[in-house]
Amino acid sequence: MVREMIVVHGNHHLEGEVRVSGAKNSALKLMAASLLGQGCTTLRNVPLISDISLMTSVLERLGARVTRDGHSMTIDTAPVNAFETPYELVSKMRASISVLGPLIGRFGEALVAMPGGCQIGARKIDMHLLGLESLGVHFAVEHGILHATTPEGLHGAHVTLDFPSVGATENLLMASVVAEGTTVIENAAREPEIEDLASMLNEMGAKVSGAGSSIIEIQGVPLESLHPCDHATVGDRIEAGTFLVGGALTGGPLTVTGINPAFLHMALMKLQAMGCSLECGDDWIRVSREEPLCPTDIQTLPHPGFPTDLQAQFMLLAACAEGTSIITENVFENRFMFAAELVRMGADIQIEDHHAIVRGVPELQGAPVSSTDLRAGGALVLAGIVAEGETKIYGVEHIDRGYEDYVGKLRSLGADIRRCPADDSDGRA
Ligand code: EPZ
Repeated sequence: MVREMIVVHGNHHLEGEVRVSGAKNSALKLMAASLLGQGCTTLRNVPLISDISLMTSVLERLGARVTRDGHSMTIDTAPVNAFETPYELVSKMRASISVLGPLIGRFGEALVAMPGGCQIGARKIDMHLLGLESLGVHFAVEHGILHATTPEGLHGAHVTLDFPSVGATENLLMASVVAEGTTVIENAAREPEIEDLASMLNEMGAKVSGAGSSIIEIQGVPLESLHPCDHATVGDRIEAGTFLVGGALTGGPLTVTGINPAFLHMALMKLQAMGCSLECGDDWIRVSREEPLCPTDIQTLPHPGFPTDLQAQFMLLAACAEGTSIITENVFENRFMFAAELVRMGADIQIEDHHAIVRGVPELQGAPVSSTDLRAGGALVLAGIVAEGETKIYGVEHIDRGYEDYVGKLRSLGADIRRCPADDSDGRA
């Protein structure tokens, strides 16, 4: 596999209209949920990104037949006859842990490799395990493999999460839909992707209510009563937010379509606080800016708080604002690595524990930089678009995990950008 880099020339303006793809962080879980229905589920608006390809491999390893037709995907789970997800797949994508709940629901047993941490944090799964144990699941770890069994079957329970974990809420949802009796998840995650998953489970015959709020109630139904469905993934709010930051940086006007503005309420409030003008429709958002960027303070929090997945993008905005912003990362313990790369481009950022003090500078300079995680990578490309001179972004594979045709979409908005084989002239390839 030839390693690639993205080369972008600065001082360009982004404007026009771009349609966002389906949400990566929903589609991955919808694919896992299809395991609960025997037969052919169709998912639409599925993004063409590498994480989806990895989840496809996970499902195929379990015996499913997956076919793609553009942004539609058909998953035939009738042939699924295994409940083991090996380390070589889980180690490539932590989100593989999302098959734990549906495998327990379908087979009463699962063998899933323990996911490791990643660049942004330890990414523990203790809340997943504690919650599932409340439903009657027993866990043993054997050589790094999590072995889940349900000797007395799955039964409803009242589960209170210490923290509104997205993944834990999703695994509990997908197991409890076939538990005997009622399950209540208190302090549940409220992300739009949770609502999307609950909608699909209900279309399959489950009885989930309250998704999108902190208290979700699930009336268990027999596994046999669950059936395949045809479901369209919601738009990707993080991709939308990334492009809106590009419009805010260069002045726009830039419109993102295929997204419900309600998914980005906090981020839109921050764009306005930083001097942007916004217009919204049912499924589109337009951003423009005439005045200089103003500084603002940001605290990342679970939804509906400010999304941690937009932290790097807004740090870039703050780095170009006239004044000082404080950005506090409350969700992941190590998600400021992007700052070091931005400092190489001339930003003035000081990290104090989980706070970043960002003093705006008049201009960034192009430089060779490396993407540390997919959201930081997306932001580095935007930095190159506004910087002076040429920027080479290495670690493109991170970006490909979560952004479909990022280079093509940015080029259509006016960026001078291309992908090419990575050269090692900068020693960062
Ligand atoms: C999902 O990760 C997303 N990934 C992340 O997006 C996103 O940043 C995160 O939610 C928060 O919104 C996918 O959906 C595939 P969490 P997840 O469980 O489910 C700790 C991206 O860029 N925690 O809400 O792993 C955990 O370590 C990715 O698309 C425990 O301690 O997030 C983290 O610090 C990055 N124990 C915090 O909670 C647990 O059992 C939030 O984790 C579970 C989580």
